[in-house]
Amino acid sequence: MSDFTVSSEAQAFSLQEREALYKAIFARRDIRSQFLSKPVAEDSLQRILDAAHHAPSVGFMQPWDFILVRSDAKRQAIKEGFDAANARSAEQFSGERRRHYQRLKLEGIVEAPLGICVTCDPSRTGPVVLGRTIKPEMDNYSAVCAVQNLWLAARAEGLGVGWVSILDDEVLRETLGIPEQIRIIAYLCLGRVSAFSDIPELERKGWLPRRPLELAVHEDGWQATQQQQTEQLLAEYLHEKGYE
Ligand SMILES: Cc1cc2nc3c(=O)[nH]c(=O)nc-3n(C[C@H](O)[C@H](O)[C@H](O)COP(=O)(O)O)c2cc1C
Repeated sequence: MSDFTVSSEAQAFSLQEREALYKAIFARRDIRSQFLSKPVAEDSLQRILDAAHHAPSVGFMQPWDFILVRSDAKRQAIKEGFDAANARSAEQFSGERRRHYQRLKLEGIVEAPLGICVTCDPSRTGPVVLGRTIKPEMDNYSAVCAVQNLWLAARAEGLGVGWVSILDDEVLRETLGIPEQIRIIAYLCLGRVSAFSDIPELERKGWLPRRPLELAVHEDGWQATQQQQTEQLLAEYLHEKGYE
């Protein structure tokens, strides 16, 4: 007897369901300035974590874990780690670009009531994993798929997520007691928000534009002209914004 008891037609999404999915995708934002301190409802959080846990994973190894960071003291320690890493990061830009970088708000670690550290255990399910035999880094990509599920589910629940990557792993290892063999994939801030913007904050603040889709799609092979067009658009944008 087949496991597939429902025909594929019956499993199709209705128009409304499709619209809801695309709404979550297009309305998702990276949030750092608009967090409210109100707590996240536990039932929403469980649904979001369950959505993350249903992400695809190489060989179905499910390499992720989610460390919930509710402690004010721990979030404060992580924020201090961010401040140090952010000061070092600013030095990698120069001139007006550095000044612009320094004006950006790139985290909401303390404002958001909840942090979630997503990790990847490369040894989960044993030393040889179906699908990782040639490209072992696929475990990391699987954990990133969990992050994306979490991010979209949070948006559907009306909650904002901000990914903070300007952080040394050591800060998270020490603060959260993460063993050396477990990889750190993401530190996310999660919370209720005052507003979701229609466009990414970095676009709104004139840092970078969204690249047109047609330049990202290549037919039957790599097209160098699309890369050149992308570079030209970017140069024009930066020139327009007063960068050289
Ligand atoms: C892997 C990854 C790391 C990121 N790290 C940071 C970060 O450290 N700080 C920050 O403000 N935003 C971070 N972001 C958010 C991006 O800036 C944001 O996704 C991008 O500007 C597009 O905006 P949107 O997510 O609102 O569509 C990160 C996003 C990803 C996918």
